[in-house]
Amino acid sequence: MTLELVTAGESHGPALVAIVTGLPAGLRLDRDTIDADLRRRREGYGRSPRQRLEQDEVEVLAGLRHGSTLGSPLALVIRNVDHESWAWGMSPWPPSGEPEGKGTSPVTLPRPGHADLAGALKYGHDDVRNALERASARQTAAHVAAGAVAKALLAEIGISVQGLVLEIGGTTAEDGWKEATDAARSDRDTLGGVVEVVAGGVPPGLGSYAEKGDRLDARLAAGLMGIQAVKGVEIGDGFALARSRGSEAHDEIGQGLRRETNRAGGIEGGVTNGEPVVARAAMKPLPTLMQPLRSVDLASGEPAPALVERSDVQAVEALAVVAEAAVAWELARAAREKFGGDALVDFVGAHRAYLERIAWAP
Ligand SMILES: Cc1cc2nc3c(=O)[nH]c(=O)nc-3n(C[C@H](O)[C@H](O)[C@H](O)COP(=O)(O)O)c2cc1C
Repeated sequence: MTLELVTAGESHGPALVAIVTGLPAGLRLDRDTIDADLRRRREGYGRSPRQRLEQDEVEVLAGLRHGSTLGSPLALVIRNVDHESWAWGMSPWPPSGEPEGKGTSPVTLPRPGHADLAGALKYGHDDVRNALERASARQTAAHVAAGAVAKALLAEIGISVQGLVLEIGGTTAEDGWKEATDAARSDRDTLGGVVEVVAGGVPPGLGSYAEKGDRLDARLAAGLMGIQAVKGVEIGDGFALARSRGSEAHDEIGQGLRRETNRAGGIEGGVTNGEPVVARAAMKPLPTLMQPLRSVDLASGEPAPALVERSDVQAVEALAVVAEAAVAWELARAAREKFGGDALVDFVGAHRAYLERIAWAP
């Protein structure tokens, strides 16, 4: 028994879609809670005006009845409200009438740092838009909706997941973030940053050392690295451990099998050890610059400035929400594998019985 997620949707297409399979029946979902996470993803000081346009709301097409999961695939839809202005340019079927609105002329100026060039070459697109529409971080909205569902499931067994910002543009003090963002904006530049996700209430025993792909640290790393613009991931003290001695790097086992330190970030051997799970992700500066970088026009082969399309100055606060969803998703998946159950009561009961067996009080 495991959770699976498949998403679809272009940035300016009609909608984003997420299909979640492997949920137990009887899990209560709350529309406002999912929409609140979608709202959190859009917020943040460095975001573009598009975020005010994206009034994301989740619609459910299948798998839910009167607010409870049915045990069947859950189908979620988030409409792109600005698709209206792209209706001709992003029409799934050959459009009728004269070209109007946005996206009507082909993009041939790939942006360094985006999937534009590699995507156009790989798939044989003459119009770079055919690559950038899907590569865009707009798709993270679908992952945030699925993450909200994962958090609802985790809450049933007392696990909470929270993402937060540690750094923006190299500044660790929160009172400097607005200033750094303003400075980058006025220089028509962009910033990156670092986020941290902490999960509490995690029992020992999620994940496995049996195979590489079962290790929870490997899955968390893949889940976080799979987010657009994430270029580094660490679990617990991560890179700092490489610079410390063994006597300072590990978490000694104390009374009640608890630890006084948590340098491992709650995972040893790919398995949770009962301490909070801590993961960090580093985001590069966003690649669309209002002062465009040098590129080459794919139509003429001549040097030309890269495409300038409405873009954020930094999206680190948004990344904290997306990273939270990614960690929640991987923890929920590991919990489904460990506790199984077709009905929520079976899942919760298996968790309780397991804690009793290992004599673990959360
Ligand atoms: C929440 C979020 C928002 C983003 N917004 C933008 C943006 O407005 N402009 C931009 O150029 N890149 C943005 N990105 C990053 C790009 O999508 C990403 O750098 C690009 O797709 C290339 O992928 P890679 O950086 O993982 O190699 C955003 C990423 C995230 C996670």
